[in-house]
Amino acid sequence: MTREYQIIHHQNDVIVIGAGGAGLKVTHDIAKAGLDTACISKIFPTRSHTVAAQGGISAALGNMAEDDWRWHMYDTVKGSDWLGDQDAIEYMCKAAPTAIIELEHFGVPFSRTADGKIYQRAFGGMTTKYGEGPQALRTCAAADRTGHAILHTLYQQCLKVNAKFFVEYFTTDLLINDAGECQGALAWNLMDGTLHCFNAHTVVLATGGYGRVYFSTTAAHTCTGDGNGMVSRAGFPLQDMEFIQFHPTGIYGAGCLMTEACRGEGGYLLNASGERFMEKYAPHAKDLASRDVVSRAIMMEIRNGNGVGLKKDHVYLDLTKIGVKKIEEKLPGIAETAKIFAGVDPAVSPIPIIPTAHYCMGGIPTNYHAEAMTIKNNTKIPVPGLMAIGETACVSVHGANRLGSNSLLDLIVFATSAAQTILQKLNPNTPVKSIPKNALKKAVDRFHSIRFSNKEFNVSNVRKTMQEAMQKHSSVFRTEKTLKEGVEIIKKLANSIDNINVIDKSMVWNTNLIEALELTNLLPQALATITAALNRTESRGAHTREDYKERNDDKWMKHSLTTIDQNHNVSISYCPVTMNTMSDSVASIPPKIRTY
Ligand code: FUM
Repeated sequence: MTREYQIIHHQNDVIVIGAGGAGLKVTHDIAKAGLDTACISKIFPTRSHTVAAQGGISAALGNMAEDDWRWHMYDTVKGSDWLGDQDAIEYMCKAAPTAIIELEHFGVPFSRTADGKIYQRAFGGMTTKYGEGPQALRTCAAADRTGHAILHTLYQQCLKVNAKFFVEYFTTDLLINDAGECQGALAWNLMDGTLHCFNAHTVVLATGGYGRVYFSTTAAHTCTGDGNGMVSRAGFPLQDMEFIQFHPTGIYGAGCLMTEACRGEGGYLLNASGERFMEKYAPHAKDLASRDVVSRAIMMEIRNGNGVGLKKDHVYLDLTKIGVKKIEEKLPGIAETAKIFAGVDPAVSPIPIIPTAHYCMGGIPTNYHAEAMTIKNNTKIPVPGLMAIGETACVSVHGANRLGSNSLLDLIVFATSAAQTILQKLNPNTPVKSIPKNALKKAVDRFHSIRFSNKEFNVSNVRKTMQEAMQKHSSVFRTEKTLKEGVEIIKKLANSIDNINVIDKSMVWNTNLIEALELTNLLPQALATITAALNRTESRGAHTREDYKERNDDKWMKHSLTTIDQNHNVSISYCPVTMNTMSDSVASIPPKIRTY
């Protein structure tokens, strides 16, 4: 056992951590502008979780029916249950059409209409005329593999501008100086076992969500929220962590995503009596209500004894009336996944589904310039040198509930914004402030102590207990009792993190150590989520408290900011929701009761 690690040092203008849609877009834009950029990823870029995004990316292009970005903005504010910041939502919805055209010019193979325009489909919560008009056709699609198409195209564009990649490097910690500035990160090269100190003017976190705190999730095994973990460890707050989206249609048992596009293309949900039950819960939008509404409706049907199957614990997604041709053309991936994971041909039989953890609305607080924020004397201020984009960030355009197809849009728009901020503020090829020795030593010491941790708790057992507890205690419906029990379990697990057993001490492709490091990121996020959920005594968006059934704007129209200290104590502070819009081109949307 030795603390002597040979460290390889790098200096760059910018480092980007994560190579999904957000990471690749910002990497492309700044590398193209000539900045020395290093993109670090724990997996090969085209394996990033953006690849799994199916149904599409929203933008008011109006290709198939009348549309307006202001209607998109209205739907997003309403979808967020008025917890979204309206300046950021305006920014995103206004920028959406330009973002799509840029992707098209990059070569994203969008599906086409008969007259050659980008194909757009219906998605939940997307309406026209400020909710008064018909369902919008706003979600731009490449069949049901839109994320796949975007991710591969962006990676090709990055190669074209000679962006520098450090692939299969696991970033363990941010390097923060005593003044609280972010100056780089420590990463471990999984392939040859070397440690690397990346020193840069700016660090952009694009590390994705933390869906893997749940047992049943559409998120890949890699979605361990490493950026959020690092930020929390550095003493900065995470915002709105109590808001977890459950996608209505994960395959029962397997958790695989059955895209909302299934309902956008004409599919619907059925209970044990063959009833289209969504008509009771959302008389106007029916199966295309927002995700929180549909997930709650499914769970209510199951509770009321209307579930299907031996245990009556799920419902059906019926695509049989769509027709084989449309399934083959618009939903080919769904047909394949349903056959493999549910054993059904969706053209013939309904698919068994259940709401499944899908998306984290909370994350690192940022402004719409993508600068990471912290809180000082009750005021939000930027963390010098640190930015965040994509699911790891909470900008907050999704508030308490994200609309389907607004996630791919968020990635692209705010990655573009991050690049613009960097290009305005950063002086390229100027000397980078060197990293203080104590910051690097602290990061290396932490890595070393986890690697040689030799105590009683098995990493995968701790992870499984955490996932089961989150699934049971912090799910679609929540009460004080279940949340309190869950907090106790997660707190105990968080304390056990100092007593784990890493059996494999090697440095090359040590998956035992990777999983241990990921667990040190997952546990604080589980703790932040369940503690903030217990704290918020109202129901808003995806956060449904059975003991506080109503939204309470007087007390709770505010973001929660969760900070965790070294002893795993959680403190929660607040900051206001931005109700003002960014410009005069649109008025602020006042809160009202949310029905579909
Ligand atoms: O249902 C889906 O295709 C998922 C899209 C999204 O989460 O935005």
